[in-house]
Amino acid sequence: MVRFPAFEVERWMDTYETKAKYDLAETCALSIKLRELIELSYLDGEPPLEQSAVFDGKLGYGHINGSPKLRQRIAECYATSSEITKENILVTQGAISANFLSIIGLIQQGDHAVVVSPSYQQLQELPKTFGADVSFWKLKAEENWEHRTEELEKIVTKKTTLVIINNPNNPTGSAIPTETLKEIHDIVKRKAHPDAMILCDEVYSPLWHSIPQDEQVPASMLDFGFDNVLVTGSLSKAYALAGLRVGWIATKRKDLLQRFLGIRDYNIISVSGVDDELAARALGPKAKAALLKRNTTLARTNRAILAKWIDETKGVRWIPAKGGNTALVYLGDGIKDEDFCASLCETRGVNVVPAGLCFGHPGYVRVGYVGDTQQLKDGLVQIAEHLKSWK
Ligand SMILES: Cc1ncc(COP(=O)(O)O)c(C=O)c1O
Repeated sequence: MVRFPAFEVERWMDTYETKAKYDLAETCALSIKLRELIELSYLDGEPPLEQSAVFDGKLGYGHINGSPKLRQRIAECYATSSEITKENILVTQGAISANFLSIIGLIQQGDHAVVVSPSYQQLQELPKTFGADVSFWKLKAEENWEHRTEELEKIVTKKTTLVIINNPNNPTGSAIPTETLKEIHDIVKRKAHPDAMILCDEVYSPLWHSIPQDEQVPASMLDFGFDNVLVTGSLSKAYALAGLRVGWIATKRKDLLQRFLGIRDYNIISVSGVDDELAARALGPKAKAALLKRNTTLARTNRAILAKWIDETKGVRWIPAKGGNTALVYLGDGIKDEDFCASLCETRGVNVVPAGLCFGHPGYVRVGYVGDTQQLKDGLVQIAEHLKSWK
């Protein structure tokens, strides 16, 4: 029988989220309201919800693989050169179910998988749970959390059937540059099993809010037109719409989408038709642009507050995040992150995630900084106070 190990970050959130006055653990850009979403959709000429087809339609299962309108709009999120159309998209319940389907649809007992680390525990744990031997492509703070391909080269073997990356990376907020994405593809083509796939979790894309001026904004792994690539995404993080529970798998490999659809029949059937309609509205050209502008502005404002706090707080340091909603912050030598975070939440109501427990980086905490700006400011003051009393 398949047994799932505890998903530490989800357990942590479940335990402390509701106790927190200052939520600096959330990984989504500050969520928007249904009313705001509907109003944004008027920019694209959508009618009020009460006048839409979904309002008067029956609440059946709807389109099993996602409505054509939604799939088309998801396809339009990728560069046109990638030959991606609605036929290359499978709609899922969030990126979590997109990753789940991709991994269990690809991994077989005895395979070898390579997974970037640190990253979201699901990406590391599922290949193991379903029988793969897993090697980690380790990012290091002393290398600025950069994705060094010489390290990848060392761990990919002829038995490697799946390489999993995450761009922007949760928890570090680091980026895989376009050139590195191509190198990853070359290494997999050259060294891995001939059928090997690359799964790139792009759930925080395109929230590239802080790429230095002399660097390019990273492409989607799908934008090169490679056949051996799956990209997962969702509306949760960059679009601030986690409550819709809409995500997707995008790939040129339609045969794999059929395989995943077959697995999905056993545990999802379809995404709610109401969510599907709202998601399609969120991805209308003007609504999408407005949402991304809002979230990019918020991310830049809040990141500057976090950066200033780090500069001014003794013993604390980070590698500045380039994208996404999270960063790893080192709190100082000898701090047991799990004890510190539990006490911080219990006594001062600030929730941050202990990165030793959840990401294998003791002494660090993960800060989700693209939430409410005032909560971030107040929460950081509390953390500084707690640090003083802790040492
Ligand atoms: C890297 C990564 N992938 C996937 C998910 C799942 O997101 P959702 O199912 O809300 O799209 C998360 C959530 O934190 C994440 O950080």
